[in-house]
Amino acid sequence: MDESQHEVIARWERRWVVFGAVMLLCFLALIVFVLATEGAHIVHGGGRLTPAEISQVPLFSNPGATRLSTGEFQVGIVAQAFSFNPSAIDLPVGAHARFYLTSKDVLHGFMIEKTNVNVEVIPGELAYADYVFTRPGSYHVVCNEYCGINHQDMIGVINVLPVAQYRQKAAAGTAAGQAAPLQAVPGGAEAAAPPAGARPAAPAADGSKVYAASCASCHGPDGQGHPGAFPPLAGHAPALYRAGRGYPIDVVLYGLHGKISVQGKSYDNVMPGWAQLSDADLAAVANSIMHAWGNDSSLPSDYRPYTAQDFASARGRGLSAADVHAERARLGLP
Ligand code: CUA
Repeated sequence: MDESQHEVIARWERRWVVFGAVMLLCFLALIVFVLATEGAHIVHGGGRLTPAEISQVPLFSNPGATRLSTGEFQVGIVAQAFSFNPSAIDLPVGAHARFYLTSKDVLHGFMIEKTNVNVEVIPGELAYADYVFTRPGSYHVVCNEYCGINHQDMIGVINVLPVAQYRQKAAAGTAAGQAAPLQAVPGGAEAAAPPAGARPAAPAADGSKVYAASCASCHGPDGQGHPGAFPPLAGHAPALYRAGRGYPIDVVLYGLHGKISVQGKSYDNVMPGWAQLSDADLAAVANSIMHAWGNDSSLPSDYRPYTAQDFASARGRGLSAADVHAERARLGLP
């Protein structure tokens, strides 16, 4: 091979290297463009869940849409070969929905057509995605991860209805894919608590109702939470009180976002704040939690029940759920 041939080959090699680099930059630019314009975000895992545990978490043992007291919707969906449970879900237009997903068997996908919701549903993992349905219509749901022979049949639909129509169906009990209403603990949470003994009197009874309506879907009707997904309050709430009486107030008002460790298990999830509830309801539910499930036996002797005034004066500080996470760390809680 003479000198000029060498030169020709080297020139072509340089051209291909430049071409390859330009293509890489184009792909990178496309990703950046989509992230910036389409509101795409990486869905991170909300926790862990063994397939056997799925039947014990209310979110998945009783899957479907639940209207939270915030007016938002929490939607538990179990994916399994080859269906979604529930596969058809009615929601009102304007619904802020948070979808919680897990798989009973193999890897599935959960993609809602015409939206940016596209979640990998991994067995053993809890994933979530948020979406606000601003337009009525039928949104098809598909599994977009090959999961077996009938993968192509794994479909669902979300019907976003006019509000009046949704209300009518919900009231008649004919709305599709709604979770059964949460049951309060029989006899209320207080009935399950041991006698208060020398402790301050148990709080007003409606704290357990607030708990059943707003807290039980994540922390469990019995305060046991769920390992990896939502921390327990039974056997844990008094430790929060001891760390700082104001801390439980902030968590309930402003939420909590970040990695925490409770009784040796770690959690990385988002708890919404509940500032939309009244001060009286918040005080009642905080007291109910402190007294329920044997928690009252580990309250400190100087324990003072929460009052509506406690919550009223903690409002208006504009804390974020991440600020509360930092406060938690400052108090030395893991
Ligand atoms: Cu499930 Cu494909």
